[in-house]
Amino acid sequence: MTDPLLDDLKRRVSETPLGAEAEETGVVTEIADGLARVAGLPGASLGEILTFPTGARGFVLNLDEDVLQAAFLDPMDGVEAGAGVARTGRALSVPVGEALLGRVVDPLGRPLDGQPAIETGETVETERPAPAIVDRDFVSVPLATGILVVDALFAIGRGQRELIIGERSTGKTSIAVDTILNQKASDIVSVYVSIGQRTTEVRRVIEAVRNRGPFDRTIFVVAPATAEPGLRWLAPFAATTMAEWFRDRGGHALIVYDDLTKHAAVHRELALLAREPPGREAYPGDIFYLHARLLERSAKLAEAKGGGSLTALPIAEIEEGNLSAYIPTNLISISDGQIVTSSALFAGNQRPAVDVGLSVSRVGSKAQPGALKKVAGRVRLDYAQYLEMKMFSRFGGFGDAAMKARLARGERIGALLAQKRYAPLTPAAQVALLAALSDGALDDVALEDFSRLKDALEPLIAENAALAAFREDPSDLDDDTRAALVACVRSAAGHLPERGE
Ligand SMILES: Nc1ncnc2c1ncn2[C@@H]1O[C@H](COP(=O)(O)OP(=O)(O)OP(=O)(O)O)[C@@H](O)[C@H]1O
Ligand SMILES: [Mg+2]
Repeated sequence: MTDPLLDDLKRRVSETPLGAEAEETGVVTEIADGLARVAGLPGASLGEILTFPTGARGFVLNLDEDVLQAAFLDPMDGVEAGAGVARTGRALSVPVGEALLGRVVDPLGRPLDGQPAIETGETVETERPAPAIVDRDFVSVPLATGILVVDALFAIGRGQRELIIGERSTGKTSIAVDTILNQKASDIVSVYVSIGQRTTEVRRVIEAVRNRGPFDRTIFVVAPATAEPGLRWLAPFAATTMAEWFRDRGGHALIVYDDLTKHAAVHRELALLAREPPGREAYPGDIFYLHARLLERSAKLAEAKGGGSLTALPIAEIEEGNLSAYIPTNLISISDGQIVTSSALFAGNQRPAVDVGLSVSRVGSKAQPGALKKVAGRVRLDYAQYLEMKMFSRFGGFGDAAMKARLARGERIGALLAQKRYAPLTPAAQVALLAALSDGALDDVALEDFSRLKDALEPLIAENAALAAFREDPSDLDDDTRAALVACVRSAAGHLPERGE
């Protein structure tokens, strides 16, 4: 006789795995701003997500022999010493894919724009290895910023890492945002990561892109100053994972980190709370490695890997012009050049306030369109000399005619390189302006008219049928094209729109 009830019980007993079940539960031993010290989770790994009794999540920031430090990703209210901590076995990861385009999210991919949750069906870890050397290619395709001083003198190529560095409020963010706006005319996807900024500043950037730029091809990853330190720490890594998704599919992406000085500060804050030994300027010893492994993920991939690219524009702030402080020197050494903004130039109304003497682009000139390279020639040197001469001529006694001519030319270059925000120039217009400068076609234009001349120039170039091929491909400049471009500048100078328009 069989008893169905007994049979069922027997079956369930035989199916139940016997033996000890390995479930680790840790205990919070200490708690500080955004950080918990946890004992009793020997199996946890770096970057693993942990959960607290309140439902709040954190991730393993660093591991010691018998304790670990977990940074909170949610508000830590209600979590106290003695609280239990559970492992999830899952590493930090974020949603990736096209569903993120046109969205504002936090570093975990949770919407901040009041729109529905991101459903991409695919998540990828935030810490990923950089492409291997053999999988990379040289930087050879330009990434046009639309900013004359950058494209002409410090050209940036796809896959490059170009630091934007300068003092507070010298136009750093504006350079990066104008670069994103200029991608309206390209196939590049932009990712803007805001780390530790005021929400009003971030909102201004988002609105600028919404109103004037390729909003539907931009992702905003935002961890404001008020966000948990763990979220601010995570932001650049999470955003890079989102950007890489496009790179790894043969696409092209641009990532702006605004800014890594604030990221370094969060890293230091967490490290000090975790009682790691402080190093130079109280930063923990691994800060260089942290940013190096972040920026290494930007690259131009080899054809065999799809030929995609990720270009990085990290932003850094310096104090009192001190480029040789610890974090600035670190960042300078792990990027392929720097655009330095100067508070003196900014105060003197030279905007963008790019210091042409200190700025450099180490790999981008190989990617610069040939025509631009041809006409940019001596501009940088002449302008840098002018800025130096101007300093000395203030003291008087430099009155000879040759000197005056050089000062006048320098002033003209300064006016040409000045550019309003939200007014990107096409490569063709840039070539036209520089060719006109060297031909003396701008000599009779009043300096205050340069800005209106640029506005008048673009439509003339766009409408010129003879320039159609050049507009498409400005890689070479023949004499006829050059003459046509300079003629456009002369014509624009002759038909300036009314002042104040
Ligand atoms: N090319 C420009 N023409 C006119 N104004 C500009 C230009 N670039 C920047 N500005 C103005 O200068 C101010 C500071 O610019 P921005 O916020 O880009 O500087 P920042 O260096 O990023 O500042 P912060 O250090 O606060 O992040 C803004 O009000 C901006 O509108
Ligand atoms: Mg800024």
